Amino acid sequence: MSPLDIDRRHFLKAGVVAATAGILETQEAFAARLAELPTPGRAGQGFVELRDEYALSPDITYFNHASIGTIPKIVREAQHKYQELCETNPWLYIWDEGWPDGREVVRRKAAAAMGCAVEEMALTHNTTEGFNMLALGLPLGPGDEVLFSSLNHAGASVCWNYQAESRGFSVKRFEFPVGRAAELTEDDLVAAYEREITPDTKVLVFPHIDNIVGFRYPVRKMAEMARSHGVRYVAVDGAQAAGMIDFVVSDFGVDFYSTSPHKWVQGPKESGLLYVSEGVLPDVRAMWVTWGHTRWKGTVRVFEDYGTRNMPELMALGHAIDFQNELGARAKEERYRQLWQHFKTEVDRRSGVIWRSPVTWDFGSGLYAIEREGHKSSDVSRRLFQEHGYVFRPFATQGLNSMRISPNVFNTEDEIDRFLDVLHAL
Ligand SMILES: Cc1ncc(COP(=O)(O)O)c(C=O)c1O
Repeated sequence: MSPLDIDRRHFLKAGVVAATAGILETQEAFAARLAELPTPGRAGQGFVELRDEYALSPDITYFNHASIGTIPKIVREAQHKYQELCETNPWLYIWDEGWPDGREVVRRKAAAAMGCAVEEMALTHNTTEGFNMLALGLPLGPGDEVLFSSLNHAGASVCWNYQAESRGFSVKRFEFPVGRAAELTEDDLVAAYEREITPDTKVLVFPHIDNIVGFRYPVRKMAEMARSHGVRYVAVDGAQAAGMIDFVVSDFGVDFYSTSPHKWVQGPKESGLLYVSEGVLPDVRAMWVTWGHTRWKGTVRVFEDYGTRNMPELMALGHAIDFQNELGARAKEERYRQLWQHFKTEVDRRSGVIWRSPVTWDFGSGLYAIEREGHKSSDVSRRLFQEHGYVFRPFATQGLNSMRISPNVFNTEDEIDRFLDVLHAL
């Protein structure tokens, strides 16, 4: 052992005591604040009371949680405390040693929330990163095909085309009739993919919930269909599902599930999770490697071998998951269903406002598309933001002229009614 190692070990011993105290203090403060939250289920509380627990400007009505979430104040406080702690001795707090068991605590929380084994959960930076790892790391070459539809987000698509150029596999992207979302059934959706599968299809990629109209894919059925045709890998984009709907990823029978907790889990920006089913772990070559290459070999941690990492942010993700657990996955999904039902009913009551998403909750989700007849969605979105503070996302792709609305559990039925009145009056 070099003298440097001894010094470092000595320093760490002293440092870890202080570190542990600072971390414990933050965790205790967080737990105390969590216990005081007006969460649903506590006497007289519903989801609406949670609005004040977020820093959203009072000048806006935020209907764009599908683009990016907002961190609850108490998670942000913990995040700031961790960052401050880190700046007291960056050398100590930027490596894993400063956070005894920290990374593993977050991994355990993420695995429990998603419903998989701890050893199947990698802590990444976003959905896009997870798909880039797969496009680079899976054993693909000439004769192999990767299949997805136009409903795929760029974050789960572009990486395949990019890698195909140098690695020789092919990519097939087919047009999904997204404009007919309100007429289609779950079986239509599965059949649309099934028609496109060929003996060459080695990877099938699809979203759990697409980001345009909010189809909720029957993931298990899709995976079974794909396997029955010999597809080797099934990779799911869960960016819009984790934190919004209640599911157990290991029940799906898929190989990979990549997601971005900075959306519906309301974690720090730049947080990602990648589920890698145990059986296919050896199939994926890590995208980048450094000092963890030997230490983490053969484990899911090889996918987080970045070198220097923003540990305070990662630790705060653990608290974002705690916060969501406190709300309850089932209760949240029920609240999203209520808002969906209310929104749809109110759209159907107003002439000139058209529902452009699936018409049943089981096939739909907490994000949905509408159209204001005779108006360009980008103009409407700009005007409603400037004049009324509404934030939502217009879509003008794939023949659509729609607006995607994605409220959160604390948005109210009144806010929806007011928004639709303004839209209707245009
Ligand atoms: C369905 C879907 N997939 C992937 C992404 C990309 O997410 P990220 O930028 O966090 O990787 C998004 C972002 O909106 C999305 O909606």
